[in-house]
Amino acid sequence: MHEREPIGVIGTGYVGLVTAAGFAELGNEVFCVDIDADKIRGLERGELPIYEPGLAELVERNRERMHFSTDLQPALDQARLLFVAVGTPPTYSGDADLSAVDAVVDAMPPSDRHALVMKSTVPSGTGASIKRIFAERGKGGFSYVSCPEFLKEGSAVADFLHPDRVVVGDDGDWAGDAVVALYAPLDAPLVRTDVKSAEMIKLAANAALMTRISFINEIANVCEATGADVVKVAEGIGHDRRIGKSFLRAGVGFGGSCFPKDSLALKQLAANSGYHFQVLNAVIEVNELQKRRVIGKLADRLGSLRGKRIALLGLAFKPHTDDTREAPAFVLAGRLLSEGAGVVAWDPVARIDGLAGVEQVATVEAATRGADAVVLVTEWPELADVDWPAIAAAMRRPVIVDGRNMLDPDSMRAAGFQYDAIGRAASNGPR
Ligand code: UDX
Repeated sequence: MHEREPIGVIGTGYVGLVTAAGFAELGNEVFCVDIDADKIRGLERGELPIYEPGLAELVERNRERMHFSTDLQPALDQARLLFVAVGTPPTYSGDADLSAVDAVVDAMPPSDRHALVMKSTVPSGTGASIKRIFAERGKGGFSYVSCPEFLKEGSAVADFLHPDRVVVGDDGDWAGDAVVALYAPLDAPLVRTDVKSAEMIKLAANAALMTRISFINEIANVCEATGADVVKVAEGIGHDRRIGKSFLRAGVGFGGSCFPKDSLALKQLAANSGYHFQVLNAVIEVNELQKRRVIGKLADRLGSLRGKRIALLGLAFKPHTDDTREAPAFVLAGRLLSEGAGVVAWDPVARIDGLAGVEQVATVEAATRGADAVVLVTEWPELADVDWPAIAAAMRRPVIVDGRNMLDPDSMRAAGFQYDAIGRAASNGPR
């Protein structure tokens, strides 16, 4: 076996840590850098700043090969390839905030043996402007590679080790070859292209997935109006190989650290060059409305929501993560509070921090006891094993809105519930 190349990873968030631990697992020495000293101290003690299934074990198993520092120097000394995995949050204008990326670029010394390998999601054209800045500052010897990351929270470790594809965008120099070699053991399809196209692949992949979600959510809304069942409709269209089955789950809308931010960034990227990206605008708007549709369903059942006690099951934007960024539960909770309802929430790992007025409890039973309605917001597997007849009996009114179409309508009705879901008019039963 060839000697594995040491690498640097700048930024120890989701993407950075998973990338670092993943390459350590493949046998690379990995030099992790973060400006957050507390985080680095915690990582040195083996404490992870995030919850991600399998990641703690991976870090533990590869501890000897993972090095943590707030100082860039060890990474610069030991590695040629410096992966950049810092945050690129949205600004007020919807453009990506690249200040953390800029700080990394500023910190690079002149060198003709290093390359920045961009993992952070950045607008198409960022690589070109970084190369321009390097050239202007006498650092023209620095190489640049775009290597977008497609991992999903909750299955990030598996996504790293078994990617659908690896995308490498570069200028055809040593750095691109070195990144290709790094990923070679994963045996994934390789798409090698120029930097701008690699950047656009990431934005387009996210946009395609979001489009599917908003599409099926609109189909769900039409199903409600016509009496059809979106779960069957999704199954029926998903068998068509040209369409495929994935990302056709109707629900309360998408959230998370990527989709909402990246959709705005792509919309803004297009708008900045004078192009009105109509499909993407609609995708974003449909999603915003979708997050609020549950309110109408509750009002249909309960009338005014003032003084009603509503239980939200699930706070994370999806199961198997504690991430609540742009989570539909927060939008729902905010709307319910402003309607005058009382909100009590349950989640096995995520916390409601930052949302005043919402009570968080430790069990599904405590959340639902005495409630006027329950909304299933995140499809945590735990919710499949709940004693629903007992829950229904302990509620003030046995109303449930299944915001993820997770539960079986017939069993829920047999359990005593007035059951509502998303796009399953046929399953609503009598009102
Ligand atoms: C996403 C992309 O999948 C990943 O490739 C990219 O690197 C980062 O963004 P992530 O945000 O972790 O990953 O979660 P994902 O599983 O894609 O789900 C995103 C949101 O879409 C969640 O809120 C989820 O509930 C929602 N979703 C997903 C649906 O509502 N319906 C679906 O059919 C699929």
